[in-house]
Amino acid sequence: MKTVLYIDCCIRKELSRTRRLAEAFLDRLSQRQDYTIETICLMEEPLSLLSGDFFFQRERLLDEHRLNHPRFRYAHHFQQADRIVIAAPFWDLSYPALLKVYFENVCVDGITFGTAQNQLVGLCRAERMLYLTTRGGNYEGSPSEMGVRSLEALCQFWDIPHLDVVAADGLDLGLEPPEAILGRPIQQAAALAEKF
Ligand SMILES: Cc1cc2nc3c(=O)[nH]c(=O)nc-3n(C[C@H](O)[C@H](O)[C@H](O)COP(=O)(O)O)c2cc1C
Repeated sequence: MKTVLYIDCCIRKELSRTRRLAEAFLDRLSQRQDYTIETICLMEEPLSLLSGDFFFQRERLLDEHRLNHPRFRYAHHFQQADRIVIAAPFWDLSYPALLKVYFENVCVDGITFGTAQNQLVGLCRAERMLYLTTRGGNYEGSPSEMGVRSLEALCQFWDIPHLDVVAADGLDLGLEPPEAILGRPIQQAAALAEKF
């Protein structure tokens, strides 16, 4: 049995269109017998910024090689997952800061990445990541779209070889009803669950 870690950063919760993409994917995935889905809802986690005492505690623990400290649980959980699914809306040309704070807690030297022969090496088990997002404007393939680009770089950093992206664009432009726009990515997400 493989584990999928589902990271829910859909800050508007039940109002979120991004969460609808995630639900389409996870509903289909849960029909398969080969995956256990573990969900982490970032809006309900006591996540701290790397600042002040919380930052310096991390430095001390790393110096003392105390990687079993409870504050590193997010990093261990992430490192051990066979697949990662992230759902987050497009905010200010990227994803919400809440997801970045989570990544700061996940990126721990010796857990999710390390060094070998003076080179950075990723230590994550996952072979695939899926990023689900929805955007108010049209940003597909735009160099201003920093969410996908950031995740591409992070996947390299963590040594996750494959990133899938399912996105809905133009939801707030008023050119087409959001329901019509969402139809295609919802289908795409559900189809992807068959071969994920
Ligand atoms: C704080 C905030 C920042 C946003 N920034 C952008 C942006 O930079 N570009 C854009 O096209 N849409 C932006 N939007 C619109 C959202 O991307 C869009 O409404 C999206 O579908 C919201 O996803 P959700 O329904 O899952 O919350 C922003 C919305 C909010 C609330």
